[in-house]
Amino acid sequence: MSKNFPAPKVILITGTSSGFGMLTAARLASSGHHVFATMRDLAKKDLLLAEVKKRGGKLNLLPLDVTSRESMQSVVAMIAESFGYLDVLINNAGYGLGGFFEDLTEEEIRRQMETNFFGVQNVTRQAIPLLRSRKAGKILNISSIAGLQSSPCFGAYNASKWALEGFTESLRYELKFFGIDVFLIEPGTYKTKIFHENAQYAKNFFNPSSPYYHLSQRLYTKIMNYLDQCRRDPEEVAILIEKLIMAQNPPFRNIPDSQTRWHSRVKRWLPFSIYSWIVWKILFNEVKKPDEET
Ligand SMILES: NC(=O)c1ccc[n+]([C@@H]2O[C@H](COP(=O)([O-])OP(=O)(O)OC[C@H]3O[C@@H](n4cnc5c(N)ncnc54)[C@H](OP(=O)(O)O)[C@@H]3O)[C@@H](O)[C@H]2O)c1
Repeated sequence: MSKNFPAPKVILITGTSSGFGMLTAARLASSGHHVFATMRDLAKKDLLLAEVKKRGGKLNLLPLDVTSRESMQSVVAMIAESFGYLDVLINNAGYGLGGFFEDLTEEEIRRQMETNFFGVQNVTRQAIPLLRSRKAGKILNISSIAGLQSSPCFGAYNASKWALEGFTESLRYELKFFGIDVFLIEPGTYKTKIFHENAQYAKNFFNPSSPYYHLSQRLYTKIMNYLDQCRRDPEEVAILIEKLIMAQNPPFRNIPDSQTRWHSRVKRWLPFSIYSWIVWKILFNEVKKPDEET
């Protein structure tokens, strides 16, 4: 096989109705790969199909809700029937839940874990036999910078991504025996639907009688202002994913942009007392504690 024209890969990706998943699926399809692009609601396919039309290429579009075992099984069965193997699994589907711990219900937190953590585990469990059959392959898990550092109001999301980081690191050792490589991608902030149409908030997030109301509204305004200024292109993540798929020995942890890479280094280098003091100052400097109010 020529090095200049590597063989197209068989790729399964979750959550392709928007954002990173949509851009990545379209990008990989235009590069000639056999892409199984999945989304839980096929009525949302237009954005992806328009992107594929713009870039060229074709893909297989299938329904897959990462919280439904039946939909996973039928997608994997379809790939097994068409190719008999899988080269790459991209676990991308996920959402962000905002809310201070006491404002969140147990049910809301469990739902977050069900998608961002157990969803990844369940899709991976179904896909591994197809990856193992080639004694090669890659699993790319889309984590987040929120999987490396926590912030107030995002504890449930942080927990889901920290859990994903721990699981992925462990899986990397286990699957090495079978020639399967496992990677993490840890993006910073990109203006996708995760912060807008798809954003989810604790039921009490907008409840003025919550003791956290003034804090959550303050953070909400800060985040929305930050997003207004955010010019980072989500295609960066799609480009990185394609690079990782084609690279011989890519690194395990991958942060797409330099500002977020720098941020994660600062967290690692600084004593936590100093790091957390800075975070506190940035987020809550002028906010009075209840016992300071007059
Ligand atoms: N954007 C960022 O700044 C950022 C930063 C770090 C990490 N991430 C991570 O990147 C991944 C993609 O997010 P995005 O930013 O591209 O957001 P997005 O535009 O909201 O896309 C999220 C995708 O996940 C899908 N999804 C949610 N729950 C699902 C389920 N149960 N089954 C199947 N699909 C489901 C959504 O489908 P529906 O349209 O049906 O809801 C959508 O296609 C997520 O894992 C997120 O945590 C994002």
